[in-house]
Amino acid sequence: MMFTSLVAAVASVLVCSVSAQGTSSVSPQSSTSVYARPDVPTGTPIPGNYTGPLRPQIHFSPPQNFMNDPNGLFVDANGTWHLYYQFNPTQDVPGNQHWGHATSEDLYHWVNQPIAIHRPNDAEYVYSGSAVIDVNNTSGFFPDQDNGVVAIYTLASYPYTGAIQTQNIAYSRDGGYTFTPYERNPVIPSNLPHFRDPKVIWYEDHWVMVVAFATEFSIGIYTSPNLINWTFASNFSYHGLLGYQYECPSLQTVPVEGTDEVMWLMFLSINPGAPLGGSISQYFPGYFNGTHFEAVDPVARIADFGKDNYAGQFFYGTPPDEAISIAWASNWQYTGLTPSGPSEGWRSSMSLPRRNYLANATRIGWVLVSEPYDLSPVLGRELAANDSLGNGTILVDYSSVYSNALYFEVNVTDIPRANISGSATLNFTFLSLDTGESVLGGFYFGGDNPFFLDRGNTRGFENVFYTDKFSTVNIPNGTWSLSGVIDRSILEVFINGGEHSATITFFPTQPLTVMALSTMDLPPDTGVSVAVYALESAWQQYENENGTVVGNVTESTPTGRFSKRYAGHGVWT
Ligand SMILES: *[C@@H]1O[C@H](CO)[C@@H](O)[C@H](O)[C@H]1NC(C)=O
Ligand SMILES: *[C@@H]1O[C@H](CO)[C@@H](O)[C@H](O)[C@H]1NC(C)=O
Ligand SMILES: *[C@@H]1O[C@H](CO)[C@@H](O)[C@H](O)[C@H]1NC(C)=O
Ligand SMILES: *[C@@H]1O[C@H](CO)[C@@H](O)[C@H](O)[C@H]1NC(C)=O
Ligand SMILES: *[C@@H]1O[C@H](CO)[C@@H](O)[C@H](O)[C@H]1NC(C)=O
Ligand SMILES: *[C@@H]1O[C@H](CO)[C@@H](O)[C@H](O)[C@H]1NC(C)=O
Ligand SMILES: *[C@@H]1O[C@H](CO)[C@@H](O)[C@H](O)[C@H]1NC(C)=O
Ligand SMILES: *[C@@H]1O[C@H](CO)[C@@H](O)[C@H](O)[C@H]1NC(C)=O
Ligand SMILES: *[C@@H]1O[C@H](CO)[C@@H](O)[C@H](O)[C@H]1NC(C)=O
Ligand SMILES: *[C@@H]1O[C@H](CO)[C@@H](O)[C@H](O)[C@H]1NC(C)=O
Ligand SMILES: *[C@@H]1O[C@H](CO)[C@@H](O)[C@H](O)[C@H]1NC(C)=O
Ligand SMILES: *[C@@H]1O[C@H](CO)[C@@H](O)[C@H](O)[C@H]1NC(C)=O
Repeated sequence: MMFTSLVAAVASVLVCSVSAQGTSSVSPQSSTSVYARPDVPTGTPIPGNYTGPLRPQIHFSPPQNFMNDPNGLFVDANGTWHLYYQFNPTQDVPGNQHWGHATSEDLYHWVNQPIAIHRPNDAEYVYSGSAVIDVNNTSGFFPDQDNGVVAIYTLASYPYTGAIQTQNIAYSRDGGYTFTPYERNPVIPSNLPHFRDPKVIWYEDHWVMVVAFATEFSIGIYTSPNLINWTFASNFSYHGLLGYQYECPSLQTVPVEGTDEVMWLMFLSINPGAPLGGSISQYFPGYFNGTHFEAVDPVARIADFGKDNYAGQFFYGTPPDEAISIAWASNWQYTGLTPSGPSEGWRSSMSLPRRNYLANATRIGWVLVSEPYDLSPVLGRELAANDSLGNGTILVDYSSVYSNALYFEVNVTDIPRANISGSATLNFTFLSLDTGESVLGGFYFGGDNPFFLDRGNTRGFENVFYTDKFSTVNIPNGTWSLSGVIDRSILEVFINGGEHSATITFFPTQPLTVMALSTMDLPPDTGVSVAVYALESAWQQYENENGTVVGNVTESTPTGRFSKRYAGHGVWT
C-alpha cells in the first residue's frame, strides 16, 4: 500500500500529529498484540456502528475509521477464514497503519477481532503482507502444534525518519489472534524506500515470497526453507501496465475452467497511473517452477473495468484448485475524501469474496474469471422474476428490505448475429424516489455488445478524479449474462459468469430503494430472463441493544487494560 497526492499530504500531517502524542517507550521486541499506543485500543475489538445508510451489509468494512488493503488472508484447518487489513484505528484517512483482523465461517458474516499487529514503535508503520500456516514447523516457532500462523509484512518508516521498507515476520501460537514479532527482524533488510507487500506461499518443498520493488516495476521472488532465511531467486520485471508503481503481488495457482488442471497466475496492482486513473490490478497467467515466473505472453490484462478494486489477494490454505480472493474496494485518488468518513465514521469496504478461475475466451484468450463466493448464507427472498420479459419493464420496490442490498441476474439468449437495431437495449436503474438520484447500467444487443455503468447521478460525493462512467465489450456469440450485487454504497457486476467484472462505489444522499429493469426493441427471438433477490444483512445479527457491533469480546478479554469508551466518529474518551 502507499499514499499519494492529496491523500499523502493529509496522511503525513496526521501521522506527524499522531506521532507527536505517541509514547516512545515501547520496545520493538514487545508483542505486536499488546498495548502499543495510548490512543489505539489493544486486546479488545473496536466497536462498530453498521447501521449507517452508506454502510455495506454483506461486504466487510472496518468497525471505525480507515481501511485499505486486505492482508494475511488465510483459511485455517477448521474452515475459519481470516481477514487482516491495513487499518488506521484513530483517523478516517490513511496513516498510522496497523493490521486489523476479522474472522468468518462463510466469508460474509465477519466477527471483528482485536487489532492483530500493532506498530512496533512510533517511527514505523505496519504495511501490507500475507500469512501462512506453518504446519510442519519449518520456522521452529511451533514445537507443539500444527496450526501455527506466521505473518509476513513490511515495516515502513516515513521520510522524516529515513524512508526505509523492510520485510518482517511475526508468529501466532493461538491460530492467528495474537502475534509476537520475530526477535531478529527484519528477515529481509533493505535500505530501499519502496520495497513492500510480501505474499508468501508454499511450493513443493520450500516457501516462496513475491514482493514489490515498487518504483523499479519489479516483483522480486525469494525462497526460504523456514520463513526466516530468504534467498533472492529472480525478478519479474516490466510487464504489462507500469503506472507509477507496482504493489501487492500475489502468486497463485488458479483452476482452468473446464479442466482439472491449474495454472500459475501472477497478480499485481499498480498505483497511481491506472488507465482510468489511480489504482487498478492486472494479472499474468504463466508458468512457475519454484524460483522463476514466466508469463504466457506479453499481454496486460486488467482485473476489473470499474474503478474501485485494488490490492486483491488470494487466501492461503485453500486446496490448489481453489483460488479465493478479496480486494480493497476503493481508489487512492479519492479514498480519503469519501462521505462515509464524516457522516458515519468509517471509510472503505472490501470487495465481495470471489472465486477465480482462468478461461480461454473467444478471440482474446486467457481471462481471469471471477464470481461471488457462494452467496447462499446471505441470500434472501426472491423479489421478482420473469423468464420471458420481452419488451418490458420490471419494477422492484425494495424499500422494505432492511439490508437495502440486492442480488440480481439477467440471462439473454438467442441474440441474432446481424441486423440488430441500435436501440435494442436492456437497462437497469437503482433509484431514490425522494431525490431522483440513481446508479444505472445497460447492455446493447447489437454491435460489439457494449455494456456501461453510470454512477454520475448521485450527489453525495464530488471529486474531479471520481470518474463516473465505465464500460466493457464482449465478442457477441448469441448469449449474454449479467449478475450483480448492490449493497448501499457499492455495486459489483459480473458479465458472462464473471468474464468481466466491475466494482464501483457510489454515494447517494438518500438510499436507493427502487430497481427498474427495462428492455426495448428486442430482436424477435431473443429471450430475457431476470431474477432479483433480497440479501440479508450479515451485520445486523451482531448488533447489541444499542445497535453496536462489539465483535469478539470474550470473558477473557482484558478489558481492564483498555478503559476508553467510543464516543462516535472515531473519538475515544
Ligand atoms: C449509528 O449510526 C446511525 C446512522 O449514522 C445513527 O443514527 C445512530 O445514532 C448511531 N448509533 C449510535 C449508537 O451511535
Ligand atoms: C479447531 O477447533 C478446535 C476446537 O475448537 C481447536 O481446538 C483447534 O485449535 C482449532 N484449529 C485451528 C487450526 O484453529
Ligand atoms: C509438510 O510436510 C509434508 C510431508 O513432508 C509435505 O508434503 C508438505 O508439502 C509440507 N507442507 C508445508 C506447508 O510445509
Ligand atoms: C538464518 O538466519 C539466522 C538469522 O536470522 C541465522 O542465525 C542463521 O544462521 C540462518 N540460517 C541459515 C541456515 O542460513
Ligand atoms: C526455473 O526456470 C529458470 C529459468 O528458466 C531456470 O534457470 C531454472 O533452472 C528452473 N528451475 C528449475 C528447478 O527447473
Ligand atoms: C484457446 O482457444 C482457441 C480456440 O478458440 C485455441 O486456438 C487456443 O489454442 C486456445 N488457447 C489455449 C491456451 O488453450
Ligand atoms: C458465449 O460466451 C459465454 C461467455 O464466454 C459462454 O458462457 C457461452 O457458452 C458462449 N455461448 C456460445 C453459444 O458459444
Ligand atoms: C438504455 O439507456 C440508453 C442510454 O441512456 C438509452 O439510449 C436506451 O434507450 C435505454 N434503453 C431502455 C430500454 O431504457
Ligand atoms: C420487441 O419490439 C420489437 C420492435 O421494436 C419487435 O420486433 C419484437 O418482436 C418485440 N419483441 C417481443 C418479444 O415482443
Ligand atoms: C441464468 O443462468 C444461470 C446459468 O445457467 C442459471 O443458474 C440462473 O438460474 C439463470 N438465471 C435466470 C434469472 O434465468
Ligand atoms: C446501551 O445504551 C444505554 C444508554 O447509553 C446504556 O445504559 C447501556 O449500557 C447500553 N447497552 C449496551 C449493551 O452497551
Ligand atoms: C474469539 O477470540 C478467541 C481468541 O482470543 C478465539 O479463540 C475465538 O474463537 C474467537 N471467537 C470468535 C467467535 O471469533
